[in-house]
Amino acid sequence: MAKVYIPVGTVSGTAKAVADACAVALRVEGHEPCVDAEASVDALNSGDWDAVLVVTATTGRGDVPSNLMHFYTALEEQRPALNSRTFGVISLGDSSYDMTFCQAGALMEARLSELQGQAPVPRVTIDATETQTPDDDALFWLKEWMEKAL
Ligand SMILES: Cc1cc2nc3c(=O)[nH]c(=O)nc-3n(C[C@H](O)[C@H](O)[C@H](O)COP(=O)(O)O)c2cc1C
Repeated sequence: MAKVYIPVGTVSGTAKAVADACAVALRVEGHEPCVDAEASVDALNSGDWDAVLVVTATTGRGDVPSNLMHFYTALEEQRPALNSRTFGVISLGDSSYDMTFCQAGALMEARLSELQGQAPVPRVTIDATETQTPDDDALFWLKEWMEKAL
């Protein structure tokens, strides 16, 4: 059993729905997920988590959604040591934003790597122009992530 912290960045709810679907799948496998749409470094530090799974949309021009921005900046300011804890990133976007496609997920992945987190599976990008079923795409990726990360 692994405790998995799931920070979510969302504007219109798709990433939250994807995170909730991942939480259900994790529970089915006996893990203990916690989806957090107001993620904080305090919660990250206090939860005794085995792994972190970020699920984020991209907004603006390649920006992290505002509900995840506090977590993103606090990671840089407070620099909590991840001490080789595993993490994963599910990144939602739209490839018509070609210069900034899924950039928020890339930013989160880079920041967690800087803090010595380990990503056994590279982040997945889910393109709104290509799929009507982001949950299914995420769950396909999650299966491999669970095998390697937990
Ligand atoms: C105003 C706005 C700006 C966006 N900017 C980007 C972007 O820069 N890069 C990208 O890949 N997707 C961008 N998107 C697409 C969203 O990331 C994508 O639709 C995502 O699935 C939305 O998830 P959410 O419902 O959780 O907010 C943008 C969407 C909107 C509405």
